[in-house]
Amino acid sequence: MRILIVLSWVVLLSACTQPISKNSRQEYAVAMPDKFAADVALAVLAEGGNAVDAAIAAQFSLAVTFPEAGNIGGGGFMTIYFNQQADFLDYREVAPGAATREMYLDNEGNVITTQSLFGAKASGVPGTVSGMWEAHKKYGKLPWKRLVQPAVGLAKKGFVVPEKLAGKVSRYIERKQQNGIDGNFEDYFDAATQAGSLFKQPELAATLERIRDLGLEGFYKGETANHIVSYMQKEGGLITLDDLAAYQAKWRTPITFPWRGYTLITAPPPSSGGIAVAQWLGMIETVIQSNPLPKQNSTAYLHLVSEAGKRVFADRAEYLGDPDFIDVPQTELMIPEYIQSRAQDINLTAISATDEIQPGLYESEDTTHFSIVDSAGNAVANTTTINLSFGAGVVAEGAGFLLNDEMDDFSAKPGVPNYFGAIGGEANAIAPYKRMLSSMTPTIVLENESVKLVTGSPGGTTIISSVAQSILNTLLFNMDAEEAANSPRFHHQLLPKDTIRVHPGIDEATIQALKDMGYIIKESRFGDVHLILQNHGKLTAASEKNGRGKAAVVSIP
Ligand code: GLY
Repeated sequence: MRILIVLSWVVLLSACTQPISKNSRQEYAVAMPDKFAADVALAVLAEGGNAVDAAIAAQFSLAVTFPEAGNIGGGGFMTIYFNQQADFLDYREVAPGAATREMYLDNEGNVITTQSLFGAKASGVPGTVSGMWEAHKKYGKLPWKRLVQPAVGLAKKGFVVPEKLAGKVSRYIERKQQNGIDGNFEDYFDAATQAGSLFKQPELAATLERIRDLGLEGFYKGETANHIVSYMQKEGGLITLDDLAAYQAKWRTPITFPWRGYTLITAPPPSSGGIAVAQWLGMIETVIQSNPLPKQNSTAYLHLVSEAGKRVFADRAEYLGDPDFIDVPQTELMIPEYIQSRAQDINLTAISATDEIQPGLYESEDTTHFSIVDSAGNAVANTTTINLSFGAGVVAEGAGFLLNDEMDDFSAKPGVPNYFGAIGGEANAIAPYKRMLSSMTPTIVLENESVKLVTGSPGGTTIISSVAQSILNTLLFNMDAEEAANSPRFHHQLLPKDTIRVHPGIDEATIQALKDMGYIIKESRFGDVHLILQNHGKLTAASEKNGRGKAAVVSIP
């Protein structure tokens, strides 16, 4: 592999991690995937809590009211801009100690997909509680108990089930039954989650009370840990008491890079998202420096962004994985000359052959995201996941929370796509205590040293497209927050070949022109963007209308 090290870029990257001057404002904002988490976060901010306090309270609240993705049984990433510093918290799940590279292969070496997607064996060791605890220790202002208590109340006293949640639960049960998937999901979520009914979760409430009162020990040791491990032993899962006791969320250096006069702060490995967004934006920038900027969502725009996406996903499959286990060539993949060279062979009017796109030489989805800016100008972008909707589809009995199926984010076998159609190889092979590669891309953009944009989305590999396009919509096409969050998006990831997934709403003539070029167009929604945008010192916040989110900006009198 040829490594091009460009000193000026390295200098620029380190310059971006220098202290950034504080920007006080008289307003705060949230963009949340549901109204319960939004109200919980707003109450924390109103009480003088900071953005990280609000994020911790929202994360626990979502574990109760947004069970398809909010969690204590999964993991996530938190990008932070606090007191003039960029920071990043990795609370991604890890493979259990007994995990092996071939654990999802049958005797003939074929992948048994259901095993990495459903049931106890699909679950990595959860990282969320450790993550929230670390965030609290480093940045917390309000007491831990104050931040966990709203979730306890929502689980104990119940909340009125929104129609969209009830719909998701019933569709999930239907699909699960159609596909003959076992598990205890219905015992917890069936009759109890009718739209408009009060949904109480007593086991989850007791677990949250232990977390509230005992902190880390309320989850990774004692009663909660015993419930998890008993369930694993009963159902063939691998997580042990030692695995739980050993789990540790990690502080990492975020990826920071300059783009069009802004500074982006985003997710480093084990996320693929930060490198992918840097490459995607960089390739588009390269092309528009010597060609006219295509109109947003025109045929030429979808083609250009898809061609760049092909190259992004070829690199993702080859190079990215857990940096504690493999050497991720992060700097090299982000060198401007490298990104420019990747854009050189993009033909603006014809599709490139998929099998010619190799990694550079140097070179339902679910999950949920929220964005917060506090009155001191601190920001949190937090994306959290149990992987598919409702994770592994099973609840840790006695502890009352859904387990993740994050093990499917590993590459079970080189070249065999996972649920999201992502392929991978050695870099993302399963190993004990390794973190599986993610696409979660919580991102904060700075302008003149203050927060310009906080953004993120769920959606597996489509997260990267949603985040990149939310940045392009706001900062290249100057859309306001609502329009940027709701403008139809599209996604191309190298494979399946020449296939672009599009939201409903892309112009018919554009779709036809893309088909005429040879693209296969699949219409389906993905993602759920929650963003906060600052223009001329004023915040605006938006949650994508298709979801059940709530965004709010509060001015302090
Ligand atoms: N489970 C989806 C992701 O982490 O990318």
